[in-house]
Amino acid sequence: MSPLLKVSSIETLYFDRIYALFGVSLEVEERQIFAVLGPNGAGKTTLLKTVAGLLKDQPKKGVIEFAGHRIERRPPEKVANLGIVYVPEDRGLFRELTVAENLELGLWGRRDDGVQEDLEFVFGMFPILKERGKQQAETLSGGEQQMLALGRAMLRRPRLLMLDEPSLGLAPQVAKAVFEALLTISRRGTTILLVEQNARLALKVAHHGAILEAGRIVLQGTPKDLEANEDVREVYLGIGAADTVSPRGSAGPATRRRAGAAPQGVRSLAPRLVE
Ligand SMILES: Nc1ncnc2c1ncn2[C@@H]1O[C@H](COP(=O)(O)OP(=O)(O)OP(=O)(O)O)[C@@H](O)[C@H]1O
Ligand SMILES: [Mg+2]
Repeated sequence: MSPLLKVSSIETLYFDRIYALFGVSLEVEERQIFAVLGPNGAGKTTLLKTVAGLLKDQPKKGVIEFAGHRIERRPPEKVANLGIVYVPEDRGLFRELTVAENLELGLWGRRDDGVQEDLEFVFGMFPILKERGKQQAETLSGGEQQMLALGRAMLRRPRLLMLDEPSLGLAPQVAKAVFEALLTISRRGTTILLVEQNARLALKVAHHGAILEAGRIVLQGTPKDLEANEDVREVYLGIGAADTVSPRGSAGPATRRRAGAAPQGVRSLAPRLVE
């Protein structure tokens, strides 16, 4: 079976001279949760924006295929019409509108009879969106806003949901709840491509992961493969070499770096893993 999304050797530049992606390739299978991990400035957002068609005339090189269509350099509305829904890092909500109004925008243009079923799915996943229908979006907490963004995205019935750092700025318990919702969304059949700095959380739910550093994919594999890699353990999961003798997951807090995000200034995987 061919992948739902196939990105082949794409190069994306800003201002025609600043390279942000240098020949990135990846394949996202239907129904998969695919997580791209990487530190600040790695090119994660650029990757999603390139696929979504939001960077004019980009990628400069390479091919992007979605469900059998070539989509590179297509305008964003055409990409969206094929079923790719992008939730940006700032969540893209209309802050002055209410929760219900934001959800209605997700339904814009839909004339099929699955609307009620989709609303029930979203309210079942996030009951708070039903309870807070009249509340202005900007008065929601960060976690509730992420839920609203995900709920609205699901009302567009995506084939591919692309999420930019869904855990950003959320308390650990809230981030966990959001990632649990991703599993629910995935089980319903939606394919998910997400980018994250919180490797620990992302690898818990993902079926496949890739590590992006300085515009290049330096490593790919199943979460198990990635978690077994010493460099990933140290740089991205914050598990020091001393912990590798202890059973998985039992490393003591004293030996851990802050959970999740790849610490800034820590050595990169690139020198050793890139071919
Ligand atoms: N609009 C822009 N104009 C010029 N350069 C940009 C622009 N947006 C991003 N870049 C550069 O492209 C590179 C990749 O940025 P990008 O935002 O994709 O990284 P990221 O992995 O999403 O980082 P973060 O974790 O901070 O969100 C960086 O060097 C960044 O400075
Ligand atoms: Mg980003």
